[in-house]
Amino acid sequence: MQNIEDISKNLLSQIADSDTPREILKVSELRQLYGVIKTLPAEERADYGKRINELKLTLESAIKSKESDLENATVEYLDVTAPWDVNTQPLKLLPTEMGSQHPLTREIENVIDIFTRMGFEAIESRQIDDDHHMFGTLNFPENHPARDGYDTFRTEEGYISPAHTSTMQNRILQDGKAKLESGGQIGVVAIGRCFRNEDIDATHEHTFYQYEGIFVNETATLGQMLGTLRSFFETYYNQSLKIRTQPSYFPFVEPGLEFAIEKPAEVGKDLLAGEEWLEMLGCGMIHPNVLTAAGIDPKKYRGFAWGGGIERLTMLKYGIEDIRYFESGKLQFLRKFV
Ligand code: DAH
Repeated sequence: MQNIEDISKNLLSQIADSDTPREILKVSELRQLYGVIKTLPAEERADYGKRINELKLTLESAIKSKESDLENATVEYLDVTAPWDVNTQPLKLLPTEMGSQHPLTREIENVIDIFTRMGFEAIESRQIDDDHHMFGTLNFPENHPARDGYDTFRTEEGYISPAHTSTMQNRILQDGKAKLESGGQIGVVAIGRCFRNEDIDATHEHTFYQYEGIFVNETATLGQMLGTLRSFFETYYNQSLKIRTQPSYFPFVEPGLEFAIEKPAEVGKDLLAGEEWLEMLGCGMIHPNVLTAAGIDPKKYRGFAWGGGIERLTMLKYGIEDIRYFESGKLQFLRKFV
């Protein structure tokens, strides 16, 4: 009997250490124990046989549990019926219960807020337009090389994804004509998506946002335009700023200017290191042909207009070094603006 106990201990410890526990049964002393039965006196056989059977059951259950341990250690089960988050590392999503605004949406709201407080009306620009509004009404003559500066996407029917928000100028002027004639003025900011067939890099995107301003009355001056823009940038960056202009050519303004501000303190030292002046937008006094195209008499009325990029405003405000982040949908980027 002692013998059975020893054998049992020995076999159980072998099973615990083995990678192939079932093999142990085949070569074990268990077989010999069965052989012993017929050598025993008849009255001992039943008891002995029963103990061997018990040993066999104990070993069998130890083998099964060892086999299952081995299997669990090596195989990762994939439950194909489980919800996705059981089988994969859960993504760290933005807190959906709060939601969050895309940084551009937020900055567009800031821009609208500043201009509407100055008295401008804000509208959204169109995302599909035509040659007439993209070029014709803006004093781009047919086949004029200035058209080449705007590498537009076109549909097969000849529609254009607007390459700037200036496409809204003619509509704004036509809509405001009655106001002008009753002694009022036109003051509108159009904001929206623009598209260009650009080679994409850290400062160029095929899809971007612009804000276009337009002001018309009987007495508008270039000085008023510079004052309006300066106070916009000072409010936006929350500090007083020096401004600088230099002549530029846009067919829809005369004179046309590029408008720069001194680098705001908010812009990180590393971003645009060494640059003192930052080009922010194009602007000028509305060309008489643009007023005429909308049925407004350029001898009686005058105005100014500007157009700039929302991404540039935002990048400088937050020290964002790559414009491609905005359309990327990268959570790591978006999370900074929650
Ligand atoms: N539309 C021009 C562009 O995207 C920017 C611009 C320049 C708009 C002068 C204006 C303007 O309204 O007067 O390149």
